[in-house]
Amino acid sequence: MLRIVVMVSGGGTNLQAIIDGVKNGTITNTEIAGVISNNRNAYALERAEKSGIPNRCVSPKDYESREIFNEKLLEAVDEYSPDLIVLAGFLVVIPPAMIERYRNRMINIHPSLIPSFCGKGYYGLKVHEAALERGVKVVGATVHFVDEGTDTGPIILQKAVETQQGDTPEVLQRRVMEQAEWIILPRAIDLIANGKVRVEGRRTVIEE
Ligand code: GRF
Repeated sequence: MLRIVVMVSGGGTNLQAIIDGVKNGTITNTEIAGVISNNRNAYALERAEKSGIPNRCVSPKDYESREIFNEKLLEAVDEYSPDLIVLAGFLVVIPPAMIERYRNRMINIHPSLIPSFCGKGYYGLKVHEAALERGVKVVGATVHFVDEGTDTGPIILQKAVETQQGDTPEVLQRRVMEQAEWIILPRAIDLIANGKVRVEGRRTVIEE
């Protein structure tokens, strides 16, 4: 049974897709051991509470330095003894010690087809604003392992979504969530839970 911790900062629609996936069996062999947010007002924490999932807030505001926050965040994660950490809209820079300890056991969902519209400064609506500004016809989402870079770890799954005439960033964001994020993040977790993802250098090999 794969024990996962999901780390969130906002509305938690990706967390909800994971919760629903475990419930309806599209995610097998997995249990959500806990949910951690840096934002005490994150609706994602309410989603966890409603589903009876242990959850807590570890906020940088509660600590006198980033270093102490980083230590406390890693301690909080370790307490759940996860096999896999899932960053689902977690907007805090991951401490290097956590990347090291959970190398190839920490995944992130990014709302673009990496390597487009990713890296520093590309998060949330900014990703979709940049895609519309560039006028691309295809966008999408990517699930990847987390390494020391920003959105640079080995790619696990991607799913494309077409833009439509008149899209606003908000409309496009919602379509990418519905048609890509909420599908590939649960699928990636299920693949990992069943030992079907192997990292080879900077890439992955997926056994379907
Ligand atoms: C999603 O768009 C995800 O791609 C990005 O942050 C957003 C989180 O949304 N990393 P939610 O909190 O899962 O609704």
